[in-house]
Amino acid sequence: MKILLVVAHPRSNSLTHAVAAAFSDAARSKGHTVELADLMAEGFDPVMREADEPDWENPDKTYSPEVQREMERVERNEATVLVFPVWWWSMPALLKGWIDRVWNNGWAYGKKTYPHKRVWMLAVAGSIEESYAKRGYDTAMQTQLNTGILDYCGVAEPRLNILFGSVEGDDGPDHILAQARNLGSDF
Ligand SMILES: Cc1cc2nc3c(=O)[nH]c(=O)nc-3n(C[C@H](O)[C@H](O)[C@H](O)COP(=O)(O)O)c2cc1C
Repeated sequence: MKILLVVAHPRSNSLTHAVAAAFSDAARSKGHTVELADLMAEGFDPVMREADEPDWENPDKTYSPEVQREMERVERNEATVLVFPVWWWSMPALLKGWIDRVWNNGWAYGKKTYPHKRVWMLAVAGSIEESYAKRGYDTAMQTQLNTGILDYCGVAEPRLNILFGSVEGDDGPDHILAQARNLGSDF
């Protein structure tokens, strides 16, 4: 499959970027192609302005040139993988803004559904699984991101993978990178 790999992190030597690379290498070794969308390096503007605000009366609205380019980048691929650190039990504003602007009315929901059947999220989490379960953050993220965004946009094979313990716990980055490789092999 042709995979669009969207990464949202300010630092290229971050664990998040290493997770993206591990996933990508493993997916490529299984015959997939991977196009990288490094939103921070590309200077993507996550702020929704009037040009990209949905017009509920007009599902055929022409959005800004930047958003049209992003839509074309999605359309020339067959699946999307979003890789990001968990910030405040959610995704960074950079990625949230990419979804706000690009996954727009009439293209990702409403008249149409998101162009890809399979969208996976790889969320690199600082805390351990037990901490998430204790307060229900895992369920909250599944509801918000998986159901609220992917399912809402008609993605038939949605998946939120939370890779726990980048900061807390004993498993550390190697364990997270191994999971990323496995996910790339399984894609
Ligand atoms: C602004 C901010 C908010 C964070 N919020 C959370 C959080 O809600 N839950 C969590 O598990 N980790 C949280 N973390 C920790 C990050 O997930 C952690 O720094 C990241 O997984 C480490 O990977 P990186 O080197 O790619 O940044 C937060 C980090 C930052 C900078």
